[in-house]
Amino acid sequence: MAMNLTKKLSAILSQAFETAGLPAELGQVVPATKSEFGDFQCNGAMAGAKKLGKNPREIATEIAALVASNEIISKVEIAGPGFLNIFLKDDALDVRASEILADERGGAEIVEHPRKVIVDYAGPNVAKSMHVGHLRATIIGDSLKRLFRFRGDDVLGDAHFGDWGFQMGLLISTLSEEMPDLPYFDENFSGEYPTQSPVTLADLERIYPSAAARAKTDEDYRNLARRATAELQVGRAGYRALWQHFVNVSREALKREFGALGVEFDLWLGESDADPLIPDMIKDLEQKGLLVEDQGARVIFVHDKMVPARDGGERPNVPPLLVVSSEGSAMYGTTDLATILDRKQKFNAELVLYCVDQRQSEHFESVFRASDKAGYLRRDQLEHIGFGTMNGKDGKPFKTREGGVLKLHDLIQMVREKATAKLNEAGVAADLPEDERTQIADYVGMAALKFADLQNFRGTSYVFDLDKFLSFEGKTGPYLLYACVRIKAILRKAAEKDIKAGEIHIKEPQERALVFALDGFENALLGAYEKRAPHILADHVYALAGAFSSFYANCPILGADDALVMQSRLALAVATLKQLEKGLELLGINVPERM
Ligand code: ARG
Repeated sequence: MAMNLTKKLSAILSQAFETAGLPAELGQVVPATKSEFGDFQCNGAMAGAKKLGKNPREIATEIAALVASNEIISKVEIAGPGFLNIFLKDDALDVRASEILADERGGAEIVEHPRKVIVDYAGPNVAKSMHVGHLRATIIGDSLKRLFRFRGDDVLGDAHFGDWGFQMGLLISTLSEEMPDLPYFDENFSGEYPTQSPVTLADLERIYPSAAARAKTDEDYRNLARRATAELQVGRAGYRALWQHFVNVSREALKREFGALGVEFDLWLGESDADPLIPDMIKDLEQKGLLVEDQGARVIFVHDKMVPARDGGERPNVPPLLVVSSEGSAMYGTTDLATILDRKQKFNAELVLYCVDQRQSEHFESVFRASDKAGYLRRDQLEHIGFGTMNGKDGKPFKTREGGVLKLHDLIQMVREKATAKLNEAGVAADLPEDERTQIADYVGMAALKFADLQNFRGTSYVFDLDKFLSFEGKTGPYLLYACVRIKAILRKAAEKDIKAGEIHIKEPQERALVFALDGFENALLGAYEKRAPHILADHVYALAGAFSSFYANCPILGADDALVMQSRLALAVATLKQLEKGLELLGINVPERM
């Protein structure tokens, strides 16, 4: 596998540091931050000088002398206290650009030891339509899934459907009051339950919030719902049959919404799928001496110290994991722990990424520690990939103008409408057929929404500003689609004129800059992968589009007067498009053919 320039050059410098009697790691280079600093920089001489008790410039001079005649290096300058500024020869760039062009992965490497990875993301729930809060979990999780898969890991994405627990008891108990004659509530019923659901999604969405509110104040009702939850879990037939309707009705609607976002799951397992493992898991936890009685419930203590509590007393630094409630029910953490066991046993999972709102970090810390203690998956195999919120202009989590939570369905609708308006306003795709325009508006809208989210480090919250997201200028999804489409138009024109991409010969500074940008793909992927941070890839895609744009402004492609130059530049355009499309695909963004 061909190496990117950072790696190639680091290997050359490392060798030189070794020859000089210094650790090879000091030879690590990084792309230069400014063109005056060369193409790459190496700061190892400073650390080396400390080690040998020498002057850093002396070491830098020695290293420079050792590498100066290397076939890919044109010159090495020593700056400041001993920085090495390295300049590469044009032919080294010819070679690298040709490799990237020829490589179906656009110059990206593959992990040496692929792992079995599960990405747990989106986390939709029965009876609750998705709202903007689920958007980030979906967009970020989907991108991480694509990224890990592209790096070569064996990845499964799982929706981890919220279909168990107290919410189910709330729905069942409300329905038992509203429609007591349904056969599901008759314990003596022995026939076949109806195949048609007695409730629609709209019913569930109406029932759930009011039931949840009522349970907070009405103790009898709360106990009724708790009992219903416990009975459902031990397998009361009518409740199971009714529950199955809730699940089906919700899942159908949710899948449609994920479809609109272009998101598909490999597994659509629910919390309930972990339920059959729970009895044995509890026995196992008992045997291991991990389950402790605590105020009528059974918990696993996972803290390592006590810290001051608000009430003046002390509390564990990490809360215990509640495994069995005082009613004997499985809780959110119980299904999460059993799901870890399931993922280990059924899928041999070696790493699980939980793409869930930052606010659940304490929950996951408890679950992960419990898993580690029980010997299921180790703490370092479980990661909570938290993220900030999407805020309104007031800096608080986004709400509709009426102050309610915006449903995802309505958001998508709004994005599509605005994208269409934007196309009209900018005169984009004006002369294309109606159905193609609709498709383009959809791509533009999704690109706007996803790129706006993914370009921020996930931990940071950001402000929802659809006008800005949809702009064809600036660091936006639509700008990037436009950049790709522009290259596609050039390639189509070249094909019409029967001009083919040829050998790459780099000369102009903007051509050099473009090759360095292309070469940065691997570094960006590696960074995004290691930090679980798609924004690093988003930055790369944006930088690459910018590098192409200044290349194109300064280096005419089809207008070049020399056929060889034309073919070389065309090859650069092909390589750029391929990498841009790949990068966007990994962010979950589709590119239209034209617009
Ligand atoms: N359904 C949960 C919620 O809405 C998110 C699920 C996240 N995944 C998990 N394994 N707990 O909060």
